[in-house]
Amino acid sequence: MSASRPAAVIVLAAGEGTRMKSRTSKVLHELCGRPMLGHVLAAARALDPGRLVVVVGHRREQVVAHLEQAEAETSPRPEPVVQERQGGTGHAVRMAMERLWDGGGPSGTVVVTNGDHPLLRGETLAELVRVHGAEGNAVTVLTTEMPDATGYGRILREGDGSVAAIVEHKDATEVQRAVREINVGMYAFDGALLADALKRVTTDNAKGEEYLTDVVGILRGDGHRAGAYLTADWVETQGVNDKVQLAQARRQLNDRILEAHMRAGVTIVDPASTWIDVDVTAEADAVVHPGTQLHGRTHLGEGAEVGPGSTLTDTLVGAGARVVNTVADGAEIGPEASVGPFAYLRRGTRLSRKVKIGAYVETKNAEVGEGSKVPHLTYVGDAEIGAGSNIGASSVFVNYDGVEKHRSVVGDHVKVGSDTMIVAPVTIGDGAYTAAGSVIVQDVPPGAMAVARGRQRNIEGWVERKRAGTPAAEAARRASGRDRAE
Ligand code: UD1
Ligand code: CA
Repeated sequence: MSASRPAAVIVLAAGEGTRMKSRTSKVLHELCGRPMLGHVLAAARALDPGRLVVVVGHRREQVVAHLEQAEAETSPRPEPVVQERQGGTGHAVRMAMERLWDGGGPSGTVVVTNGDHPLLRGETLAELVRVHGAEGNAVTVLTTEMPDATGYGRILREGDGSVAAIVEHKDATEVQRAVREINVGMYAFDGALLADALKRVTTDNAKGEEYLTDVVGILRGDGHRAGAYLTADWVETQGVNDKVQLAQARRQLNDRILEAHMRAGVTIVDPASTWIDVDVTAEADAVVHPGTQLHGRTHLGEGAEVGPGSTLTDTLVGAGARVVNTVADGAEIGPEASVGPFAYLRRGTRLSRKVKIGAYVETKNAEVGEGSKVPHLTYVGDAEIGAGSNIGASSVFVNYDGVEKHRSVVGDHVKVGSDTMIVAPVTIGDGAYTAAGSVIVQDVPPGAMAVARGRQRNIEGWVERKRAGTPAAEAARRASGRDRAE
């Protein structure tokens, strides 16, 4: 194990989070495509710890279920430890130590972090661990200088720059409250010394809790060195306690994500109205227009343009494709394709190169071949369309018989006339045509013209006889030329 690799990271996530006023666990509130806890775990994982431990308490069934689903594939897998009653941050870490190491604590470094600090970057935690090792400290505290330190634990320094103690806001004197350097809530500890010191933490304080912060003074009293890593970026160290702070953190995180994309060559026309999740990827020269949201594992290829006003989730956009005012979820859009405005691409949509999907078109489980066009007012559900075909305006792939969904196949270079109902399951062969207004219920052979509609019958003079005196009848009479004859 390398010197900088911690034995464990312990994430504290058992608190009640009362100020969120929510049925959802505080740490499961989402920002930029992940719950708060997910961001904290991602930062923790950047340290490559031996074990990753999450202390759970309030709404633990939600948190444990989330860990089992969303974090099942990650390494190391987070291990939940239950804290039955919330006896304070020191109590929470003690429970984890007792459960996982019989109270002894592992040899090596143990990092402890609050679960409600979604902006904290892995790099900052790594720097904390590096300083901890380099200074040979028993404990190293991540600190910053807050413009307003109200509510935070204050850092009391010795003359030599080491840390003497952390005093909680509620327990601090006026002089101590004037200190602007605060405890962020992230620490690197010597594992064995931490375990030993936790046994001596009392509840003799304003909240009647076991404070993790008291460990600093205890280790100091034992003659060990306590240090601090002071970070200048106080914004990144902010915690989230209510939905106002959640929105502020989301804005910050979004800004950081957009900045990284812009530095990598993506054009973002209006950062203020653009929201991009943390797992979205984009290649250089992609362009994102105003009012666009990119979620999940969406990817933009080189030169792809998305927006304005588009929301894409788990959608792949090929190089040079154009997607305007579109909602897409689980779709693949081929290179140089053109989608929208006002298109809705649902799961299983796969558009090949140069496909055109126009206004008011909805697609689902639909494969559309190279260069094919679905330009206007159409539903394509459970269908396969070949290359070079055109689906006329206002056509519907009628896929649902009321009980089951069926699939239709349209070949290459097919011309489906406007307002064709393609009643699945049905196959329209290569090069075939359908007449406008047809209801296709049988297969159409390649190259055939399918006409499936009533023959037109004109009843001459019907309006003048049956609707006499109406403007229509007058117009008909004028058109007949009898006006001039009289
Ligand atoms: C804590 C620090 C304070 C620091 C601040 C930074 C202590 C005593 N104080 O204060 O110095 O400035 O964080 O945000 O540690 N938790 C549990 N079990 C418990 C209690 C808390 O898991 O029994 C978890 C909470 O869910 C939260 C974290 O620990 O994620 C911090 O708890 P919180 O009550 O918010 O501590 P603060 O009073 O903010
Ligand atoms: Ca807090």
